[in-house]
Amino acid sequence: MSGTGFTELRLDRVSRSFAGRDALAELTLTIRKGEFIALLGPSGCGKSTALNCLAGLLPLSRGSIWRDDVRLDTVPPERRGFGMVFQNYALFPHLSVRRNIAFGLQMRRVARAEARRRVDAAIRLVHLEEHAGKLPGQLSGGQQQRVAIARAVVLEPSLVLMDEPLSNLDAKLRLEMRTEIRRLHQTLGLTTVYVTHDQEEALSLADRLVVLRDGEVQQVGTPEEVHTAPVNRHVAAFMGYRNLLPLRAAGGAGAGIRVEGDGISLVGTPVGTVAPGTGVLAAARPEDLRIAADGVPAVVEVVEYQGREVAVEARTDAGTPLFLRSAERPAPGDRIHVTAAPDRLLVFPGEPG
Ligand SMILES: Nc1ncnc2c1ncn2[C@@H]1O[C@H](COP(=O)(O)OP(=O)(O)O)[C@@H](O)[C@H]1O
Ligand SMILES: [Mg+2]
Repeated sequence: MSGTGFTELRLDRVSRSFAGRDALAELTLTIRKGEFIALLGPSGCGKSTALNCLAGLLPLSRGSIWRDDVRLDTVPPERRGFGMVFQNYALFPHLSVRRNIAFGLQMRRVARAEARRRVDAAIRLVHLEEHAGKLPGQLSGGQQQRVAIARAVVLEPSLVLMDEPLSNLDAKLRLEMRTEIRRLHQTLGLTTVYVTHDQEEALSLADRLVVLRDGEVQQVGTPEEVHTAPVNRHVAAFMGYRNLLPLRAAGGAGAGIRVEGDGISLVGTPVGTVAPGTGVLAAARPEDLRIAADGVPAVVEVVEYQGREVAVEARTDAGTPLFLRSAERPAPGDRIHVTAAPDRLLVFPGEPG
């Protein structure tokens, strides 16, 4: 049942609990054919649980999964027509690259000539022509991961599921394979669900991201939406808003709102309803704070070289750390003033926590 003829895959309040505790709660998501979806969140947030529920390797505790009008969560995994790529490649060590890739086709009793043609194409696709006769143990980690990907896509799956497929590779290979995966996705017109805890990887690969925390969806959106407009402090913290300042809302300031506390006074943009006088959490990325003629006084503590810019860690007189980027190069001990672009300082309502 490797039919690719579907329009959308629908997860309806998919939940899975272990020992009475939800590892995944009420995941509702419609995946359109051809989309690249990333499930993103810290370790233990339920990403693999979600993927395994989709694959059929884990029964659901509640909810349902649909491929167009066909209910899928009651269909056994081997009949869903999905391809899977895991973090540990799980190749057969005693079979050559070619036979590893051909294995699934043999299991499905695909005719020999057809199987040979498809295996050849898959080997070319992942650039392993010169290694087709080797055993997995004779390949590098990146090459093994390529075999695992070829083995999945050779079955022409209706959906490819990948669970942190690059996390065992070194940084350079990770970047190369990232491009490779996106290229394959496009070339083959795949529909892909990709699990990662690496926000940069998710942002660069996916059409849409699903950000999870403690088994619950926090936000579903395009990379740009999640990156520039996180819906809450948890998504912000996870997406690199390193400056998280517990402050108090002072009142309106043009289109924004003034936030204050502990020697800090800045103007930011409220996310949701922020009542004057209440506690808030103001969030900004290091690249959205800058050194200015006036602003929040702070003393530089650490300066890190980062190519065109330096990363600066400074501390206010009240002891609040500030993380920023700067084209100028201050020295530790320098007294600076820090300001934020009002549209890039996000003000989340409520007490921190
Ligand atoms: N087979 C299992 N038995 C009990 N608890 C599990 C099992 N699998 C996952 N969990 C728990 O469910 C939560 C989510 O796990 P997982 O989906 O593996 O997270 P992630 O892939 O995001 O790191 C974790 O708290 C984990 O300990
Ligand atoms: Mg996992």
